[in-house]
Amino acid sequence: MDENAARSARIDTTTVHSARRYNYLLGGKDNFEVDRAAGREIERLFPGVGISVREGRYFLRRVVEFLAGEAGIDQFLDIGTGLPTENNTHEVAQRVNPSCRVVYVDNDPMVMAHSRALLTSSPEGRTYYLEEDLRNPDGILGHPDVRDVLDFERPIALMLFAVVHFIKDDDESRAIIRRLVDALPSGSYVAMLHFSTDTLPPDLAADHRRRTEAGQTDAFSRTRDQIAEFFTGLELIDPGIVVASEWRSDVPEGQRARHQDVAGYGVVGRKP
Ligand SMILES: C[S@@+](CC[C@H](N)C(=O)[O-])C[C@H]1O[C@@H](n2cnc3c(N)ncnc32)[C@H](O)[C@@H]1O
Repeated sequence: MDENAARSARIDTTTVHSARRYNYLLGGKDNFEVDRAAGREIERLFPGVGISVREGRYFLRRVVEFLAGEAGIDQFLDIGTGLPTENNTHEVAQRVNPSCRVVYVDNDPMVMAHSRALLTSSPEGRTYYLEEDLRNPDGILGHPDVRDVLDFERPIALMLFAVVHFIKDDDESRAIIRRLVDALPSGSYVAMLHFSTDTLPPDLAADHRRRTEAGQTDAFSRTRDQIAEFFTGLELIDPGIVVASEWRSDVPEGQRARHQDVAGYGVVGRKP
């Protein structure tokens, strides 16, 4: 998108946006210089970040294949959509079951504009795009179009991929997730990818802690135990909370990403 078109479309090209920075880190082109500069700074601090974000996307693909396949889920609520890339949630789900329905939610208008244009559903299924904030779960759950696309009487998969780590406060994050999970019927799933420095080299983890204390980052690391708390009351699907690249990996052991290059845990839980 050129900068003039972006401005007229209500898109701020002067401040870093996490979706566009992520797009840069994934090798995409939907970003502006301010996002690329921020991405280059992360690459300088954490050279493994490219591996980490790609592993996050592979984890998403495996999770959605599991949910739409083995778990028999055909409704998805994907909050923190990100800019369209390869293997978007509805594409993976509808490859398994073309009638899957996906509601995408993001608070970035550029994500929504691109998603509406590019993430078109199979004829049998449906996709819907809502510009809303994760911090306003009632605005998501109560939206009439969300209720029209998703049937809250039947199991739904709530996807929170690389988005909860933007909410610094633990109590607020827990309350948001509890509110969302409470609205889901029994048999629903919650899948999460959450940033963590647990497995990074200690100097990188310490540097991130310093930056967090100095207010220099918008991505807040949580430990495995803190992430586990989000899943209280849910049954963890095997293999539980693991470095994202390990979750039901289809790569032979010995050829997988090193844990020091993967800054995040992956987990899927089922509401009993
Ligand atoms: C790092 S990207 C992850 C994209 C995708 N889920 C993935 O895993 O590849 C984070 C996305 O969450 C969105 N986001 C960040 N904070 C949000 C919030 N409070 N409410 C809704 N979306 C948010 C950003 O705009 C961005 O699109």
